[in-house]
Amino acid sequence: MQYNFKKSLFPLLISSLLISFSCNNHSKFYKGMVSSAHPIASKIGLDVLQNGGNAFDAAIAVHFALSVVYPNAGNIGGGGFMVYRLNNGDIGTLDFREKAPEKSFRDMYIDNVEGELKVDDKRSKIGHLASGVPGSVDGMVKIYEKFSSVEWKNLLEPSIKVAKEGFRVTEKQAIGLNNVKESLLSVNDHSIPFIKDEQWKKGDILIQKNLAKTLEEIKKSKRDGFYKGTVAYQLIKEMNSGGGIITQSDLDNYSSLWRDPIIGLFKNHKIISMGPPSSGGIALVQLLHGAEQLETKNYDHNSFEYINTIAEIESRVYADRASHLGDPDFFNVPQKSLTNQNYLSKRFSKIKSNIKTLSVDVKEGSFNGIESDETTHFSIVDKYGNAVSITTTINGGYGSKVVVEGAGFLLNNEMDDFSVKPGYPNMFGLVGGEANSIEPNKRMLSSMTPTIIEKNDKLFMVVGTPGGSTIITSVFQTILNVIDYNMDMQEAVDSKKFHHQWLPDVLIVEENTLSDKLSNDLTQIGHKIVKRKTLGRMDCILVREDGSLEGGADKRGDNIALGY
Ligand code: DON
Repeated sequence: MQYNFKKSLFPLLISSLLISFSCNNHSKFYKGMVSSAHPIASKIGLDVLQNGGNAFDAAIAVHFALSVVYPNAGNIGGGGFMVYRLNNGDIGTLDFREKAPEKSFRDMYIDNVEGELKVDDKRSKIGHLASGVPGSVDGMVKIYEKFSSVEWKNLLEPSIKVAKEGFRVTEKQAIGLNNVKESLLSVNDHSIPFIKDEQWKKGDILIQKNLAKTLEEIKKSKRDGFYKGTVAYQLIKEMNSGGGIITQSDLDNYSSLWRDPIIGLFKNHKIISMGPPSSGGIALVQLLHGAEQLETKNYDHNSFEYINTIAEIESRVYADRASHLGDPDFFNVPQKSLTNQNYLSKRFSKIKSNIKTLSVDVKEGSFNGIESDETTHFSIVDKYGNAVSITTTINGGYGSKVVVEGAGFLLNNEMDDFSVKPGYPNMFGLVGGEANSIEPNKRMLSSMTPTIIEKNDKLFMVVGTPGGSTIITSVFQTILNVIDYNMDMQEAVDSKKFHHQWLPDVLIVEENTLSDKLSNDLTQIGHKIVKRKTLGRMDCILVREDGSLEGGADKRGDNIALGY
């Protein structure tokens, strides 16, 4: 996806642009690459790589850049997950997911209305009570301390400059800002940069002076610049003024965690992905097992048999997700059982390519005994061969819509990712139970699936996307597109996606995916088809046979992969 830099970036950034190209240019041998949701963020990351920084340095710079140029999802008021692979083959993950505040409790979104218990949908989605304790800044500092090779300040300064001087919004961003105006107004009584009297239009400049000040604090004091001092004070004051419950003690106690990755095998490829509290890795390994077992590769891509078989696998995997997955520090996640080959073989054995099972007839799997375990994604590979895959979020577009007064950043509405009541659907229609109920300090279950794949012990692919519950299935289908259907990276990203998540019992399909006949055939066997304009905003990197990198940046968004 090409981008008109000259019109949209300020001079500083333009100066070094002529040497970088969109990575869909097949003839160039790229050795370092950044694929992200916004051209300025990709450029800032690329600059770090070109100046000798490694993939982790670039990741930190891109994360902060997205908090400025992609405020609907990029963040310092949210959280996320990183999966990494070093050039020596070492792998790991960092969980910087938000936590439920200490004052949260299981039924905090349930009201007793004249003797009847009713979920108040709104409070977990918008306003001060919707926010979990942010993890992003702690996460970036942890990454820095373990892997960084450059000065911290260099990773913040480009973003501070863009926040201070402003950047030109894209057409998609202008539409998004106009759409969110009323919700932003409903929870912010101070002036915020996302709101102006007239409509936003492409090319308008968004300046975020308060956010620049906050980033300055983080530049000066790292973790303490956010979780202590002025910014923490502003955050707590904001909470108190709007009925929120995050306290200084929550901020003091927040800590991101290094966790073991989920590892799976798919046709000689090693899948390295995120474990609980994300459901992504386990679900992805289950899905890939299903595709291999049922030999979906033998069907034409996106044909009747392919779509139905994949949807049947997806439905069973999401039924497991609803019952068995939650924060492993609070709930005994049966991780080994869920990815056990015998369990999975049995679970998928009854699937038929031409029969749709009603979701009421699909239950979560059971095991013997108990075991004693609007988002954005970016992928980076550096010239040394290190790879980083990060998905980060404030959940819905613009999160809780609350902008911290004086500090200029948006807070997440991640509390909605908990199961607020057993069986009650969240904003993505996902249901859950005890495993994902609200408890103080617990992390809400996620679908984020940052993933890295090895082939013959070498780095092969870095993948990920936003999309709520559809994240897992978009990552799954993109991997199948490359490995089973020999698509190149961009083709695999561009390719139309579909999604089934057990409940609700509907097949979500991107517009213009199905012919009338295919649509009729799927409806005939019981699928309820719901069309969606787009699914996912993938940012991926593929290592070709000759070792060069190919980016896959989603044209559904303003995403771009830049290499050198
Ligand atoms: O963690 C999760 O699964 C969700 N909070 C992700 C939200 C998301 O992807 C929204 N973007 N489209």
